[in-house]
Amino acid sequence: MTDYQGVLDHIAEAVQPHFGKGKVADYIPALASVPARKFGMAVRTTEGDLFVTGDAAERFSIQSISKLFMLELALQHFGDMVWTRVGKEPSGDRFNSMMRLEHEAGIPRNPFINPGALAITDLMMSLKGDTKFRIRNYLRFLAMTDTVDSNADVAASELAHAHVNRALANLMKGYGNIHGAVDALMATYCYQCAMEMNCAELATAALPLAGGGYSALHDAAVISASQAKRIGAVMLTCGMYDSVGSFAYRVGLPAKSGVGGGIVAIVPGKMAISVWAPELDAFGNSYVGTHALELFTNLTHTSIF
Ligand code: DON
Repeated sequence: MTDYQGVLDHIAEAVQPHFGKGKVADYIPALASVPARKFGMAVRTTEGDLFVTGDAAERFSIQSISKLFMLELALQHFGDMVWTRVGKEPSGDRFNSMMRLEHEAGIPRNPFINPGALAITDLMMSLKGDTKFRIRNYLRFLAMTDTVDSNADVAASELAHAHVNRALANLMKGYGNIHGAVDALMATYCYQCAMEMNCAELATAALPLAGGGYSALHDAAVISASQAKRIGAVMLTCGMYDSVGSFAYRVGLPAKSGVGGGIVAIVPGKMAISVWAPELDAFGNSYVGTHALELFTNLTHTSIF
């Protein structure tokens, strides 16, 4: 039996030389003040056991990791219809790139790049009720806590600077792939990105993805086995944007990142892993977090390859 606690504590030490090489996101002004040298990591096994190290109990802005859970919700409500609004191919472009969107007539390459996430949130907003509460309550359910919430300052800060995302939404609206009002969509999207969770909560929330849909903590299938398989595939091919190939090469796990410095990864059948370190690489993924996950799969032989 692997000593996960020992491995996590070892990684927390081993990554120290990698601090200072990345850069905390500052294009959302409220994120620029997050201390750079935070490091937390958590493992939640499919049996339900939790192992944590460092700042794993401190909440951070989950940002694009919210796209993973919004996709889960969309697949539960709309099934395969989701794939008429977004593709499931890697884009090879930056997460907020506009280039392909015109060539591909407003259908984003996948649900994890910003235009794809905007299309998914717009789809969810076609349901009755407030999508903000829907995603907040879903995250509370998944993480098994009723205190997980969105940070109003971060959401307002992003909303005031969301010029590129607004342009993406407007372009898609022009192609007929955004159905609702762009203003309301931007507010909901910024709200979901400003959700805050800690590493332990995030690993818990991703447990159904590692368990073929089943969560030992909920003692229930939260999503179907087929949904877990499909979302895992999209994480593997699209979850780390235009560095998804080198991430697969180094870490070898399906994962989803956010510019708050969080990454959540899954080892199918075994565990969900989360890491938080705010300094980002050039692709907008956690620099130290990627090193930590690479060390983890090397030390525990848990890469899927
Ligand atoms: O839309 C944005 O730009 C941010 N709210 C989220 C981007 C993000 O997290 C990309 N991930 N690495």
